[in-house]
Amino acid sequence: MDLNDIETLYLHRQSCREFSEKPVAEELIQKICELALLSPSAVNAQPWQLIAVMGEKKDEFVKAVQPMGMNKFASKAQALIVVAQDKSGGVMRVGEIVKENPYVKNDLGLLTAHLILAAEAAGLGTCILGGRDEDKLRALLGFKKDVHIPHVVAVGYPAEGYEVRPKKRKPLKETFCLLK
Ligand SMILES: Cc1cc2nc3c(=O)[nH]c(=O)nc-3n(C[C@H](O)[C@H](O)[C@H](O)COP(=O)(O)O)c2cc1C
Repeated sequence: MDLNDIETLYLHRQSCREFSEKPVAEELIQKICELALLSPSAVNAQPWQLIAVMGEKKDEFVKAVQPMGMNKFASKAQALIVVAQDKSGGVMRVGEIVKENPYVKNDLGLLTAHLILAAEAAGLGTCILGGRDEDKLRALLGFKKDVHIPHVVAVGYPAEGYEVRPKKRKPLKETFCLLK
């Protein structure tokens, strides 16, 4: 693999809002989660957990990612992967100085980035769903109030003919500079 492969991966990765009915193997969902969990985290605290929800169980969770009529397409996802803080509520396992982990949100975002790119490499489509009812998700999972759930990732094969959209990004000169 070289940089061109990575470029192709990044350009092809897009928010998928039209999923195929094609089933996704549980093993593949587990594999992309395992790869995502190789993500870095501050002081390697790994303040996270991934909960993959599939089959009939998924139907219980779909409503929680469709607040105010949002994310209707998520009903057709084959899996919903809940990205959540670890059950300890973010207390760092290492070091006595910092009890509260201020990096949890960053770490969960990094984890999600790894997850969606691993899924893309596996030929799967994903959409991060920040539109979610966090309380409902916590209730479904039996989590306490202090367990943050920033988003859920909808996963499935993209519908046949679902095209790769050109990327809409700010001009490079607004978002990158090189100082020397
Ligand atoms: C934290 C976060 C939350 C998001 N929440 C939603 C969402 O609830 N529903 C949705 O359709 N897309 C959601 N998106 C997808 C963004 O709209 C999308 O990433 C952005 O428009 C860029 O498009 P692309 O992913 O196709 O490159 C979310 C993305 C992020 C990073």
